[in-house]
Amino acid sequence: MADDFYALLVLSCLIVSTMAVTDKEIDEFLDICIDSKYHKEKPGPESDFFNTTFHCTPWKNHACCTSNTTDSIRKDGTLSLYNMHWDQCGRKMSPQCRRYFEVDTCMYECSPNMKPWIVVDPNSKKTRKERFQEVPICSEDCDAWFDACKDDLTCSDNWGDFKTWNWTSGMCKFECKTFKEYFDNAKKFCEKLFDYSWKYTKGELGIDCMTLWPNGTTNFNERVARKHAEDMLSTKSSGSKVAVQSLTVILLAGLCYYL
Ligand SMILES: *[C@@H]1O[C@H](CO)[C@@H](O)[C@H](O)[C@H]1NC(C)=O
Ligand SMILES: *[C@@H]1O[C@H](CO)[C@@H](O)[C@H](O)[C@H]1NC(C)=O
Ligand SMILES: *[C@@H]1O[C@H](CO)[C@@H](O)[C@H](O)[C@H]1NC(C)=O
Ligand SMILES: *[C@@H]1O[C@H](CO)[C@@H](O)[C@H](O)[C@H]1NC(C)=O
Repeated sequence: MADDFYALLVLSCLIVSTMAVTDKEIDEFLDICIDSKYHKEKPGPESDFFNTTFHCTPWKNHACCTSNTTDSIRKDGTLSLYNMHWDQCGRKMSPQCRRYFEVDTCMYECSPNMKPWIVVDPNSKKTRKERFQEVPICSEDCDAWFDACKDDLTCSDNWGDFKTWNWTSGMCKFECKTFKEYFDNAKKFCEKLFDYSWKYTKGELGIDCMTLWPNGTTNFNERVARKHAEDMLSTKSSGSKVAVQSLTVILLAGLCYYL
């Protein structure tokens, strides 16, 4: 009887101890791209157009985009990809602003660290079934992007809303104003411009928030994604822990009765 009890105890301890989230589980959880027009199914290396100085280079070893996508971004921004012009209101977008839109598009198409923020997109079924929502971007990046673009022209405060665009001409349809006039500040700009894909986040890079251009040797964005993945996975498994505990109680009760 003592032996049975001991065996059961060992067995339940074994089950509970395997509930801790492992690195492998986090790797598997994050090993996915959004279900969308140009994203690969899973992230992986891309060599071709990543070799030059411009293109989405921080992602070249582990990207959700193909080299064709990055080459399109280099050629004409999002015109070939989505028929959306960046030069609005009869004026060319300034080079410094354009650079930030390129960086933003690279992040959108290439980042492999988005799983914790992927949601089903109820609106644009043609180009994508899923989207990101409220990915934490460090406030400094949003500030710099807004600063680069504030005097450029736009004719909408939400480029992520399909009603904004004339899909024949690739031009947006509403009143021409500067980004500054439409958004007033960097927080509104960063969050609303692509329909809340990004969340303006104050805090520390690599812990609280991601960067739009993860070019250094430390992969800060991956750290943020892993932290969120771990939280999500351990919340899930603490649910099963409770289940295991109840099962153990039932088994113990059965065992006692039997004995
Ligand atoms: C970069 O890749 C492109 C496309 O594969 C190729 O045409 C080009 O020669 C490469 N450039 C360098 C510097 O390797
Ligand atoms: C990339 O573009 C070339 C030329 O348009 C095309 O032939 C090739 O199939 C494309 N590759 C992928 C992976 O889409
Ligand atoms: C959309 O653009 C096309 C081509 O420039 C134009 O003929 C059409 O009138 C525009 N539609 C709207 C609703 O602005
Ligand atoms: C990364 O990019 C930033 C901003 O574009 C730049 O200031 C910095 O020098 C770059 N760092 C590296 C290691 O390339």
